[in-house]
Amino acid sequence: MLLCLLLMLLLVCSTQANQFLGTVMSYYPGNTNADGSVTVDLRYKLNFQNCTNLSWECLSGNCGTESLVARTIYEERNGEWCQTEEISTRQLPSNAPFQMRLNGGHWIDNITNGIVNSRAVTLVELRNRSDTGKANLSPQTTIIAAVRVPSNCQRDFSLLAFDPDGDNVQCRYGNTSLSECNPCTAPSVLSLSSSCSLSFSPTSSSNEGPYAVQLVMEDFPTQTITLTQTDGTQTTLTPEDAISKIPVQFVLWVDPAVPSCTEGLYLPVFVPPTPTNRAQLYTSVNMVIEINIQAEANISTISGLLISGPSNINQIPLGPGQFRLTWTPFQTEEGGSYPICFVVKADYNLSTFNSDLRCVIVTVINDPTTTTTTPTTSTDTTAVTRTTATTNSAVRPRLVNNVIGLRAKVSSTYQLSNNQVLSYIQQVRYYLTNYGLQNLTINLVSYTQN
Ligand SMILES: *[C@@H]1O[C@H](CO)[C@@H](O)[C@H](O)[C@H]1NC(C)=O
Ligand SMILES: *[C@@H]1O[C@H](CO)[C@@H](O)[C@H](O)[C@H]1NC(C)=O
Ligand SMILES: *[C@@H]1O[C@H](CO)[C@@H](O)[C@H](O)[C@H]1NC(C)=O
Ligand SMILES: *[C@@H]1O[C@H](CO)[C@@H](O)[C@H](O)[C@H]1NC(C)=O
Ligand SMILES: *[C@@H]1O[C@H](CO)[C@@H](O)[C@H](O)[C@H]1NC(C)=O
Ligand SMILES: *[C@@H]1O[C@H](CO)[C@@H](O)[C@H](O)[C@H]1NC(C)=O
Ligand SMILES: *[C@@H]1O[C@H](CO)[C@@H](O)[C@H](O)[C@H]1NC(C)=O
Ligand SMILES: *[C@@H]1O[C@H](CO)[C@@H](O)[C@H](O)[C@H]1NC(C)=O
Repeated sequence: MLLCLLLMLLLVCSTQANQFLGTVMSYYPGNTNADGSVTVDLRYKLNFQNCTNLSWECLSGNCGTESLVARTIYEERNGEWCQTEEISTRQLPSNAPFQMRLNGGHWIDNITNGIVNSRAVTLVELRNRSDTGKANLSPQTTIIAAVRVPSNCQRDFSLLAFDPDGDNVQCRYGNTSLSECNPCTAPSVLSLSSSCSLSFSPTSSSNEGPYAVQLVMEDFPTQTITLTQTDGTQTTLTPEDAISKIPVQFVLWVDPAVPSCTEGLYLPVFVPPTPTNRAQLYTSVNMVIEINIQAEANISTISGLLISGPSNINQIPLGPGQFRLTWTPFQTEEGGSYPICFVVKADYNLSTFNSDLRCVIVTVINDPTTTTTTPTTSTDTTAVTRTTATTNSAVRPRLVNNVIGLRAKVSSTYQLSNNQVLSYIQQVRYYLTNYGLQNLTINLVSYTQN
């Protein structure tokens, strides 16, 4: 009895220290061993006002043992919140499904939809899929800890909902009876579509304040599939059955009304070459990917870029409203797809405004020499019109019978490998697509190095 009391008091103390602002988790299957045991990497972000730890516990199934944890390897500190990313590798006796739960933390004070306790659940499904011949990968997404909208403005938040297996990804609010949140009261000011877009409509000032948004993202097969466990048992899933589920939790701040909702005045607006929302970018191991972001606001002053991305992502301020994100994937990240989300913030008269939310997915291609075009001499050469482009200036190609000739001069302080050149071409392709050239294929016609 005394022991119970002591434990309860400790719990109360520790929960009050937490100032939770949400979490998101994705999982990446690892190796399958001869004895049927498997490994999985759980990658999760935890958001707090000040950097804090909170650990996940086993909710159901055999969650195995944690063999290696990279903790607090990335922190986004901007005065408002701290987002850390942790990667936990679990060693499992078989590929049977299990659930992990985050429990016992405490959201920030005075959440308008009344949420106090933090809770989240991930369902990890690693059984062999009949359609892919591999373990399932969860949907992949991320979100910054807190997004802002003035109470008098319309805004849509299209969350990144990428699935490496090509599954149909859907979002719903958490369900209290499935222990997905505690409780799962949805924010009255948002309407959620199953395609993971949240729509905010102008509301009265009495609805201003922070809201806890507690979503569950699930992947559904596009056709009926079977899942095979290490011991040979099989389960059939139809397109109505979720395969795995991950939590997506964050804070929506509904701020005081702004004199104008026109984007580009008080509210900063993204302009080119910022990637479009949900764009898919490519890079390869040890190859730096650069994402250039530009935003404008004519009345307020742009004061920063808030990001949520993989570990060791860097942001470089380039000038007013201009930022560059750089990220170099590790060998262990080869073959995976990693989400990055960002918003620009701007200040005016002690108020802070956010741009809309942009998210991209970066796929780390296995071996660019086999998955992308290799240098060839093309019979199209005579149709090619030569124009020039450099890495920093805008690309202005001239169209001739839908064939674009592009001569790019790339300067580098070190000798570029073929892989780096091919990865660069993928990025050029991406930017051209972004400027409206659809269904584009790029062939490297010639390439000289001096
Ligand atoms: C966070 O840390 C700052 C400085 O370290 C401190 O002033 C502040 O009170 C802390 N906030 C919370 C909610 O613990
Ligand atoms: C989180 O926990 C790890 C190991 O338990 C510890 O090394 C680290 O300092 C902790 N971080 C914080 C912010 O408490
Ligand atoms: C939360 O609300 C209470 C009562 O209205 C108030 O005293 C407290 O300052 C508020 N806390 C925060 C962080 O706004
Ligand atoms: C999954 O099933 C495919 C055949 O459907 C098989 O080739 C593959 O080895 C299996 N993978 C595992 C990890 O059991
Ligand atoms: C929540 O889950 C329970 C148990 O699976 C189910 O009966 C109920 O319909 C669900 N509620 C909603 C709103 O989906
Ligand atoms: C902001 O100023 C620029 C340059 O004067 C102008 O082109 C742009 O239309 C303005 N934006 C808005 C939203 O008025
Ligand atoms: C700045 O904010 C204060 C208080 O909110 C307000 O009285 C004042 O009119 C604002 N100034 C401008 C230039 O908008
Ligand atoms: C691009 O390809 C898709 C499918 O092949 C087609 O439906 C679409 O019309 C094409 N778009 C253009 C602009 O050619």
